[in-house]
Amino acid sequence: MSLITLMTSSCNMKSEYTASEMSLKDAYAGKFLIGATMNNDMVADHSLANTQIVKDHFSSATMDNSFKWGPFNPEPNVYNLTGPKNFANFTHNNGITPVGHVLFWHSQTPDWVFKDSEGNLLTREALLQRMRERAKFMAENFGDKIKVWDVVNEAIEDDGSLRRSLYNKIIGDDFIEQAFIIANEELPAGSTKIYNDYGMTRKGRVDTVIKMVNDFKARNIPIDAIGIQGHWSMTSPSLAEIDANFTALAATGLQLHITELDIDYLGRENLWGANVDIKKRVANKENNPYPDGNFPASADKALGARYAAIFGMFLKHHKNIDRVTFWGVTDADSWLNSWPVSGRTNYPLLFNRDASPKEALTQVINVGLNYKEK
Ligand code: GLA
Repeated sequence: MSLITLMTSSCNMKSEYTASEMSLKDAYAGKFLIGATMNNDMVADHSLANTQIVKDHFSSATMDNSFKWGPFNPEPNVYNLTGPKNFANFTHNNGITPVGHVLFWHSQTPDWVFKDSEGNLLTREALLQRMRERAKFMAENFGDKIKVWDVVNEAIEDDGSLRRSLYNKIIGDDFIEQAFIIANEELPAGSTKIYNDYGMTRKGRVDTVIKMVNDFKARNIPIDAIGIQGHWSMTSPSLAEIDANFTALAATGLQLHITELDIDYLGRENLWGANVDIKKRVANKENNPYPDGNFPASADKALGARYAAIFGMFLKHHKNIDRVTFWGVTDADSWLNSWPVSGRTNYPLLFNRDASPKEALTQVINVGLNYKEK
Protein backbone atom coordinates (compact mmCIF):
# COMPACT_ATOMS: atom_id res chain seq x y z
CA MET A 1 0.00 0.00 0.00
CA SER A 2 1.32 3.46 -0.81
CA LEU A 3 2.13 6.02 1.83
CA ILE A 4 -1.02 7.77 2.95
CA THR A 5 -1.02 11.00 4.86
CA LEU A 6 -3.80 10.95 7.40
CA MET A 7 -4.60 12.91 10.50
CA THR A 8 -4.51 11.57 14.02
CA SER A 9 -7.65 12.62 15.87
CA SER A 10 -6.33 13.96 19.12
CA CYS A 11 -3.62 16.32 17.99
CA ASN A 12 -4.24 17.15 14.35
CA MET A 13 -0.68 16.10 13.67
CA LYS A 14 0.27 14.85 10.19
CA SER A 15 0.33 11.13 10.27
CA GLU A 16 3.20 8.85 9.36
CA TYR A 17 0.96 5.83 9.16
CA THR A 18 1.53 3.29 6.42
CA ALA A 19 -0.27 -0.03 6.47
CA SER A 20 2.18 -2.89 7.00
CA GLU A 21 2.13 -6.23 5.24
CA MET A 22 1.20 -8.05 8.40
CA SER A 23 -1.47 -6.91 10.81
CA LEU A 24 -1.86 -7.54 14.51
CA LYS A 25 -5.24 -9.17 14.01
CA ASP A 26 -3.85 -11.59 11.41
CA ALA A 27 -0.88 -12.47 13.58
CA TYR A 28 -3.33 -13.59 16.30
CA ALA A 29 -6.14 -14.93 14.10
CA GLY A 30 -7.57 -18.14 15.50
CA LYS A 31 -6.15 -17.35 18.94
CA PHE A 32 -8.08 -14.31 20.17
CA LEU A 33 -9.54 -11.05 18.88
CA ILE A 34 -7.31 -7.99 19.05
CA GLY A 35 -9.16 -4.80 20.02
CA ALA A 36 -8.60 -1.09 20.53
CA THR A 37 -10.65 1.79 21.85
CA MET A 38 -12.21 4.42 19.63
CA ASN A 39 -13.75 7.83 20.33
CA ASN A 40 -16.46 9.99 18.75
CA ASP A 41 -14.02 11.69 16.34
CA MET A 42 -12.66 8.42 15.05
CA VAL A 43 -16.06 6.90 14.31
CA ALA A 44 -17.26 10.11 12.63
CA ASP A 45 -14.25 10.66 10.38
CA HIS A 46 -12.93 7.49 8.82
CA SER A 47 -10.06 9.31 7.13
CA LEU A 48 -8.32 9.77 10.48
CA ALA A 49 -5.10 7.80 10.82
CA ASN A 50 -6.14 6.03 14.00
CA THR A 51 -9.43 4.96 12.40
CA GLN A 52 -7.44 3.54 9.50
CA ILE A 53 -5.21 1.71 11.98
CA VAL A 54 -8.28 0.15 13.62
CA LYS A 55 -9.48 -1.08 10.23
CA ASP A 56 -6.09 -2.54 9.34
CA HIS A 57 -4.93 -4.01 12.64
CA PHE A 58 -7.88 -4.70 14.92
CA SER A 59 -10.70 -7.22 14.95
CA SER A 60 -12.59 -5.73 17.90
CA ALA A 61 -13.29 -2.21 19.17
CA THR A 62 -14.65 -0.53 22.30
CA MET A 63 -15.78 3.10 22.67
CA ASP A 64 -13.65 4.72 25.37
CA ASN A 65 -16.38 6.88 26.89
CA SER A 66 -19.51 7.23 24.80
CA PHE A 67 -21.56 4.36 26.24
CA LYS A 68 -20.82 5.23 29.87
CA TRP A 69 -23.96 6.40 31.63
CA GLY A 70 -22.77 10.03 31.98
CA PRO A 71 -21.70 10.76 28.41
CA PHE A 72 -24.50 8.58 26.98
CA ASN A 73 -27.44 9.82 29.02
CA PRO A 74 -26.31 12.91 31.00
CA GLU A 75 -29.83 13.93 32.02
CA PRO A 76 -33.10 12.04 32.18
CA ASN A 77 -34.38 11.49 28.62
CA VAL A 78 -31.32 13.16 27.05
CA TYR A 79 -29.32 10.73 24.93
CA ASN A 80 -26.11 11.33 22.97
CA LEU A 81 -26.49 8.70 20.31
CA THR A 82 -24.40 10.01 17.42
CA GLY A 83 -21.05 8.53 18.52
CA PRO A 84 -22.55 5.21 19.65
CA LYS A 85 -24.54 4.82 16.40
CA ASN A 86 -21.50 5.70 14.29
CA PHE A 87 -19.51 3.13 16.26
CA ALA A 88 -22.11 0.41 15.77
CA ASN A 89 -22.21 1.09 12.02
CA PHE A 90 -18.44 1.43 11.61
CA THR A 91 -17.72 -1.85 13.37
CA HIS A 92 -20.57 -3.62 11.55
CA ASN A 93 -19.43 -2.42 8.12
CA ASN A 94 -15.81 -3.37 8.75
CA GLY A 95 -16.26 -6.81 10.29
CA ILE A 96 -15.01 -5.62 13.68
CA THR A 97 -16.53 -7.11 16.87
CA PRO A 98 -17.90 -4.22 18.96
CA VAL A 99 -17.87 -4.20 22.74
CA GLY A 100 -20.35 -2.19 24.83
CA HIS A 101 -18.54 -0.45 27.67
CA VAL A 102 -20.08 -0.19 30.21
CA LEU A 103 -23.60 -0.71 31.60
CA PHE A 104 -23.02 -0.17 35.33
CA TRP A 105 -20.01 1.57 36.92
CA HIS A 106 -19.76 3.80 39.98
CA SER A 107 -17.72 6.38 38.04
CA GLN A 108 -18.78 8.65 35.15
CA THR A 109 -22.38 8.14 36.23
CA PRO A 110 -24.50 11.24 36.84
CA ASP A 111 -26.09 11.94 40.20
CA TRP A 112 -29.59 11.93 38.77
CA VAL A 113 -29.32 8.18 38.23
CA PHE A 114 -29.41 7.58 41.97
CA LYS A 115 -31.96 10.24 42.94
CA ASP A 116 -35.64 11.04 42.57
CA SER A 117 -36.98 14.40 41.40
CA GLU A 118 -36.77 15.77 44.96
CA GLY A 119 -33.11 14.82 45.24
CA ASN A 120 -33.65 11.89 47.59
CA LEU A 121 -31.80 8.62 47.06
CA LEU A 122 -33.90 6.12 45.16
CA THR A 123 -35.28 2.97 46.70
CA ARG A 124 -33.69 -0.35 45.74
CA GLU A 125 -36.62 -1.18 43.45
CA ALA A 126 -36.50 2.21 41.72
CA LEU A 127 -32.76 1.96 41.00
CA LEU A 128 -33.13 -1.60 39.72
CA GLN A 129 -35.89 -0.33 37.44
CA ARG A 130 -33.64 2.47 36.15
CA MET A 131 -30.88 -0.06 35.45
CA ARG A 132 -33.38 -2.24 33.61
CA GLU A 133 -34.48 0.71 31.46
CA ARG A 134 -30.85 1.41 30.52
CA ALA A 135 -30.20 -2.21 29.53
CA LYS A 136 -33.46 -2.27 27.57
CA PHE A 137 -32.57 0.96 25.78
CA MET A 138 -29.21 -0.53 24.76
CA ALA A 139 -30.93 -3.66 23.50
CA GLU A 140 -33.48 -1.68 21.48
CA ASN A 141 -30.93 0.65 19.92
CA PHE A 142 -27.84 -1.55 19.59
CA GLY A 143 -29.00 -5.13 20.19
CA ASP A 144 -28.71 -6.09 16.53
CA LYS A 145 -25.02 -5.12 16.46
CA ILE A 146 -23.45 -5.13 19.93
CA LYS A 147 -23.39 -8.58 21.50
CA VAL A 148 -20.57 -8.22 24.03
CA TRP A 149 -21.09 -6.06 27.13
CA ASP A 150 -19.13 -5.06 30.19
CA VAL A 151 -22.08 -5.36 32.56
CA VAL A 152 -20.43 -4.30 35.81
CA ASN A 153 -17.11 -2.47 36.15
CA GLU A 154 -14.90 -2.19 39.24
CA ALA A 155 -17.31 -3.25 41.98
CA ILE A 156 -14.70 -5.08 44.07
CA GLU A 157 -11.88 -3.47 46.04
CA ASP A 158 -8.21 -4.59 46.22
CA ASP A 159 -8.84 -6.36 49.51
CA GLY A 160 -11.76 -8.32 48.07
CA SER A 161 -14.50 -6.38 49.81
CA LEU A 162 -17.39 -4.93 47.84
CA ARG A 163 -16.97 -1.32 46.76
CA ARG A 164 -19.24 0.90 48.81
CA SER A 165 -20.67 2.69 45.79
CA LEU A 166 -24.13 4.19 45.55
CA TYR A 167 -25.21 1.05 43.69
CA ASN A 168 -24.11 -0.99 46.66
CA LYS A 169 -25.57 1.41 49.20
CA ILE A 170 -29.00 1.55 47.57
CA ILE A 171 -29.36 -1.99 46.24
CA GLY A 172 -27.28 -3.90 48.76
CA ASP A 173 -24.59 -6.57 48.50
CA ASP A 174 -26.44 -8.34 45.69
CA PHE A 175 -25.96 -5.36 43.34
CA ILE A 176 -23.63 -7.30 41.00
CA GLU A 177 -25.90 -10.30 40.67
CA GLN A 178 -28.96 -8.10 40.13
CA ALA A 179 -27.09 -6.30 37.35
CA PHE A 180 -26.32 -9.59 35.59
CA ILE A 181 -29.89 -10.82 35.96
CA ILE A 182 -31.18 -7.58 34.43
CA ALA A 183 -28.61 -7.66 31.61
CA ASN A 184 -29.53 -11.26 30.85
CA GLU A 185 -33.24 -10.47 30.72
CA GLU A 186 -32.92 -7.32 28.63
CA LEU A 187 -29.95 -7.85 26.26
CA PRO A 188 -30.45 -10.11 23.23
CA ALA A 189 -30.09 -13.84 23.87
CA GLY A 190 -26.52 -14.97 23.35
CA SER A 191 -24.93 -11.67 24.41
CA THR A 192 -21.62 -12.08 26.25
CA LYS A 193 -21.89 -10.55 29.72
CA ILE A 194 -18.62 -9.57 31.39
CA TYR A 195 -17.56 -8.64 34.92
CA ASN A 196 -14.64 -6.22 34.40
CA ASP A 197 -12.06 -4.94 36.90
CA TYR A 198 -8.52 -3.62 37.34
CA GLY A 199 -5.87 -5.11 39.65
CA MET A 200 -6.83 -8.62 38.61
CA THR A 201 -3.60 -9.98 40.00
CA ARG A 202 -4.33 -8.75 43.54
CA LYS A 203 -5.17 -11.68 45.74
CA GLY A 204 -8.09 -10.13 47.58
CA ARG A 205 -9.93 -9.07 44.44
CA VAL A 206 -9.14 -12.23 42.46
CA ASP A 207 -10.29 -14.50 45.29
CA THR A 208 -13.57 -12.62 45.53
CA VAL A 209 -14.14 -12.67 41.77
CA ILE A 210 -13.55 -16.44 41.67
CA LYS A 211 -15.85 -17.00 44.65
CA MET A 212 -18.51 -14.78 43.07
CA VAL A 213 -18.37 -16.54 39.69
CA ASN A 214 -18.55 -19.99 41.26
CA ASP A 215 -21.46 -18.88 43.40
CA PHE A 216 -23.25 -17.38 40.36
CA LYS A 217 -22.76 -20.58 38.42
CA ALA A 218 -24.09 -22.69 41.28
CA ARG A 219 -27.23 -20.53 41.46
CA ASN A 220 -27.68 -20.05 37.68
CA ILE A 221 -26.96 -16.33 37.71
CA PRO A 222 -25.90 -15.64 34.11
CA ILE A 223 -22.29 -14.47 33.62
CA ASP A 224 -20.11 -15.34 30.64
CA ALA A 225 -16.66 -13.83 30.95
CA ILE A 226 -14.17 -12.15 33.26
CA GLY A 227 -12.65 -8.86 32.08
CA ILE A 228 -9.08 -8.17 33.13
CA GLN A 229 -8.36 -4.51 32.41
CA GLY A 230 -4.57 -4.81 32.14
CA HIS A 231 -3.44 -1.25 32.97
CA TRP A 232 0.05 -2.53 33.69
CA SER A 233 3.60 -1.19 34.05
CA MET A 234 7.03 -2.32 32.83
CA THR A 235 7.54 -4.38 35.97
CA SER A 236 4.15 -5.13 37.43
CA PRO A 237 2.47 -7.55 37.37
CA SER A 238 5.20 -10.13 36.81
CA LEU A 239 4.71 -12.83 34.18
CA ALA A 240 4.43 -15.39 36.96
CA GLU A 241 1.61 -13.40 38.54
CA ILE A 242 -0.22 -13.13 35.23
CA ASP A 243 0.23 -16.85 34.62
CA ALA A 244 -1.03 -17.92 38.05
CA ASN A 245 -3.99 -15.55 38.09
CA PHE A 246 -5.11 -16.44 34.55
CA THR A 247 -4.98 -20.11 35.49
CA ALA A 248 -7.05 -19.50 38.61
CA LEU A 249 -9.60 -17.27 36.87
CA ALA A 250 -9.99 -19.61 33.89
CA ALA A 251 -10.59 -22.53 36.27
CA THR A 252 -14.04 -21.01 36.88
CA GLY A 253 -14.87 -22.15 33.34
CA LEU A 254 -15.46 -18.58 32.16
CA GLN A 255 -13.57 -17.09 29.22
CA LEU A 256 -11.16 -14.23 29.90
CA HIS A 257 -11.16 -10.89 28.07
CA ILE A 258 -8.19 -8.55 28.43
CA THR A 259 -10.21 -5.37 28.14
CA GLU A 260 -7.99 -2.29 28.61
CA LEU A 261 -4.37 -3.18 28.00
CA ASP A 262 -1.64 -0.55 28.18
CA ILE A 263 1.88 -0.48 29.63
CA ASP A 264 2.70 2.65 31.59
CA TYR A 265 6.29 3.01 30.37
CA LEU A 266 7.04 5.96 32.67
CA GLY A 267 5.93 3.99 35.68
CA ARG A 268 4.16 4.86 38.86
CA GLU A 269 6.13 3.31 41.66
CA ASN A 270 7.81 6.51 42.81
CA LEU A 271 4.82 8.67 42.16
CA TRP A 272 2.34 7.49 44.70
CA GLY A 273 2.28 6.40 48.24
CA ALA A 274 -0.46 5.69 50.70
CA ASN A 275 -2.93 8.53 51.06
CA VAL A 276 -1.46 10.60 48.28
CA ASP A 277 -3.96 12.06 45.87
CA ILE A 278 -2.21 10.81 42.76
CA LYS A 279 -4.36 12.81 40.41
CA LYS A 280 -2.78 15.99 41.71
CA ARG A 281 0.76 15.06 40.71
CA VAL A 282 2.16 17.42 38.12
CA ALA A 283 4.64 16.61 35.38
CA ASN A 284 8.28 17.46 36.09
CA LYS A 285 11.69 16.52 34.68
CA GLU A 286 11.92 13.36 36.71
CA ASN A 287 8.50 11.86 36.00
CA ASN A 288 8.23 13.22 32.46
CA PRO A 289 11.62 12.46 30.87
CA TYR A 290 10.58 12.67 27.18
CA PRO A 291 8.22 15.65 27.03
CA ASP A 292 8.84 16.43 23.37
CA GLY A 293 7.91 13.06 21.94
CA ASN A 294 11.58 12.06 21.81
CA PHE A 295 11.06 8.48 22.98
CA PRO A 296 14.48 6.80 22.62
CA ALA A 297 14.87 3.73 20.40
CA SER A 298 16.19 1.76 23.39
CA ALA A 299 13.00 2.55 25.30
CA ASP A 300 10.84 1.51 22.36
CA LYS A 301 12.71 -1.78 22.30
CA ALA A 302 12.30 -2.33 26.02
CA LEU A 303 8.57 -1.58 25.78
CA GLY A 304 8.36 -4.03 22.89
CA ALA A 305 10.13 -6.72 24.90
CA ARG A 306 7.68 -6.28 27.79
CA TYR A 307 4.71 -6.45 25.42
CA ALA A 308 6.22 -9.47 23.65
CA ALA A 309 6.63 -11.34 26.94
CA ILE A 310 3.05 -10.50 27.94
CA PHE A 311 1.67 -11.64 24.59
CA GLY A 312 3.67 -14.86 24.98
CA MET A 313 1.78 -15.38 28.22
CA PHE A 314 -1.55 -14.57 26.53
CA LEU A 315 -0.74 -17.20 23.90
CA LYS A 316 0.02 -19.76 26.59
CA HIS A 317 -3.55 -19.19 27.82
CA HIS A 318 -5.14 -18.53 24.44
CA LYS A 319 -7.75 -21.28 24.73
CA ASN A 320 -9.21 -19.37 27.67
CA ILE A 321 -8.86 -15.89 26.16
CA ASP A 322 -11.42 -14.50 23.71
CA ARG A 323 -10.04 -11.00 23.24
CA VAL A 324 -7.14 -8.65 24.01
CA THR A 325 -8.09 -4.96 23.71
CA PHE A 326 -5.68 -2.02 23.94
CA TRP A 327 -6.89 1.13 25.71
CA GLY A 328 -6.22 3.50 22.82
CA VAL A 329 -4.57 3.28 19.41
CA THR A 330 -1.75 5.85 19.39
CA ASP A 331 0.11 7.36 22.34
CA ALA A 332 -1.78 10.59 21.71
CA ASP A 333 -5.05 8.83 22.62
CA SER A 334 -3.86 7.49 25.96
CA TRP A 335 -5.33 8.44 29.32
CA LEU A 336 -1.81 7.88 30.73
CA ASN A 337 -0.83 11.33 29.48
CA SER A 338 -2.89 12.73 32.32
CA TRP A 339 -3.00 9.99 34.97
CA PRO A 340 -1.55 9.57 37.57
CA VAL A 341 0.47 12.65 36.62
CA SER A 342 -1.25 15.45 34.77
CA GLY A 343 0.40 16.85 31.67
CA ARG A 344 3.10 14.32 30.96
CA THR A 345 3.98 12.69 27.67
CA ASN A 346 3.58 8.95 27.97
CA TYR A 347 4.34 6.14 25.53
CA PRO A 348 2.16 3.19 26.46
CA LEU A 349 0.78 1.90 23.15
CA LEU A 350 2.02 0.31 19.92
CA PHE A 351 1.69 3.39 17.71
CA ASN A 352 3.47 6.73 18.14
CA ARG A 353 1.72 10.09 18.34
CA ASP A 354 2.14 10.59 14.59
CA ALA A 355 0.56 7.15 14.06
CA SER A 356 3.81 5.56 12.89
CA PRO A 357 4.26 2.03 14.26
CA LYS A 358 6.66 1.43 17.14
CA GLU A 359 9.25 -1.29 17.18
CA ALA A 360 6.94 -2.74 19.83
CA LEU A 361 4.28 -3.37 17.17
CA THR A 362 6.68 -5.52 15.15
CA GLN A 363 7.72 -7.40 18.27
CA VAL A 364 4.12 -8.19 19.22
CA ILE A 365 3.27 -9.27 15.67
CA ASN A 366 6.32 -11.56 15.59
CA VAL A 367 5.34 -13.26 18.83
CA GLY A 368 1.99 -14.14 17.23
CA LEU A 369 3.52 -15.31 13.97
CA ASN A 370 6.20 -17.45 15.62
CA TYR A 371 3.91 -19.14 18.14
CA LYS A 372 3.91 -22.91 18.08
CA GLU A 373 1.17 -24.81 19.86
CA LYS A 374 2.65 -26.93 22.66
C1 GLA B 1 -11.15 2.42 33.77
C2 GLA B 1 -12.41 2.33 32.92
C3 GLA B 1 -12.22 2.80 31.53
C4 GLA B 1 -11.33 4.02 31.45
C5 GLA B 1 -10.02 3.68 32.10
C6 GLA B 1 -8.98 4.75 31.98
O1 GLA B 1 -10.38 1.34 33.73
O2 GLA B 1 -12.97 1.04 32.90
O3 GLA B 1 -13.46 3.09 30.97
O4 GLA B 1 -11.97 5.11 32.03
O5 GLA B 1 -10.30 3.48 33.46
O6 GLA B 1 -9.31 5.84 31.29
